[in-house]
Amino acid sequence: VDPMLRDQLARPLRDLRISVTDRCNLRCTYCMPADVFGPDYAFLPRSELLSFEEIERLARVFVELGVRKLRITGGEPTLRRGLPALIARLTRLEGVEDVALTTNGLLLPRLAGELKAAGLHRVTVSIDSLDPEIFGRMNGLGTHPQRVLDGIEAALHAGLGVKVNTVVQRGVNEDGLRELWLALRDKAVVRFIEFMDVGNHNGWNLDSVVPSREVLARLSEGGDGAEFQPANANYRGEVAARHVGAQGHEVGLISSVSAPFCGDCSRARLSAVGVLYTCLFAGHGTDLRAPLRTGASDAEVRAVIEGVWASRRDRYSEERGEATPGRAGKVEMSHIGG
Ligand code: GTP
Ligand code: 5AD
Ligand code: SF4
Ligand code: SF4
Repeated sequence: VDPMLRDQLARPLRDLRISVTDRCNLRCTYCMPADVFGPDYAFLPRSELLSFEEIERLARVFVELGVRKLRITGGEPTLRRGLPALIARLTRLEGVEDVALTTNGLLLPRLAGELKAAGLHRVTVSIDSLDPEIFGRMNGLGTHPQRVLDGIEAALHAGLGVKVNTVVQRGVNEDGLRELWLALRDKAVVRFIEFMDVGNHNGWNLDSVVPSREVLARLSEGGDGAEFQPANANYRGEVAARHVGAQGHEVGLISSVSAPFCGDCSRARLSAVGVLYTCLFAGHGTDLRAPLRTGASDAEVRAVIEGVWASRRDRYSEERGEATPGRAGKVEMSHIGG
């Protein structure tokens, strides 16, 4: 195995994001809008999903190729039956340094203890507003923010690390950002994400993006962001730009639109059916399930992944520029989990 697998832009493969289901118990307007993902929507049947054996096998091959960090995503990953058993398989793999879960938090009161016991290191919980009316509208189902806060408490209680993701949309939740940060910053690392043009259904345009520098201004006491100091990244290629406020509280800014970070992008994404994508905005991916199910050896599967990574030149966010929105036919967020 080549220990220095690099893509066309010399980026290594370090981070694998694994989607375990395309289903979700919310219908966030920017991700799975209820009018598209309605009662008749054809979600993937169970037989199409990678089994835990298949996921573990692929993860092991990715680790051989340099992956050190695994993130479980969805849809909503906690809806996948038996999830703690998968976590246990993945946290046992030699060479894996970090296993995290991206979740809307609703099922954490039930699952946090089991996930921790399975070896999960941390969770990243999404919550866009503490205002019941605004959050209810954004999540498409009227679900109350307290249910997410209960999930965060359950994760903390179980001893899991907690980060919070808040997607910011112009004219939707921009007014409640400081309130949210003040309420959560002592418990979790809060990150604000610029609304992105992922998928094909979220009606994105540049006017709906609140640039991170404005988010920082809204968080600050003086209203100008001046008290925030940039802090060093925790690791090379960290997506969130860390900032520290006057009293030492951290905030992360994920500025995929105003300050793209493709240059250091070392992330691969595996969909629930085993398609490998090398960009969040990819138009197509590479099927890894077919070789698995037709008897390919680990070496053969590894060669496929190596070939895909070696030829990768994705830098969508840097190319997006002022073209609004970018290309058509992108992979759906619910297939790769962000
Ligand atoms: P940490 O390991 O805690 O640093 O997590 P992370 O920030 O890498 O992962 P998370 O799933 O919390 O990502 C936060 C947000 O950043 C999500 O909205 C993702 O969709 C977005 N994001 C993550 N990776 C990428 C990426 O490669 N490109 C773009 N454009 N956005 C990304
Ligand atoms: N723009 C920005 N972030 C998004 N997420 C989902 N859709 C979008 C979008 N269009 C976020 C979720 C979750 C993370 C994985 O991605 O809220 O926090
Ligand atoms: Fe579900 Fe997360 Fe998408 Fe919202 S953003 S619909 S919680 S997968
Ligand atoms: Fe990586 Fe694509 Fe995101 Fe750029 S746009 S950081 S290449 S996933």
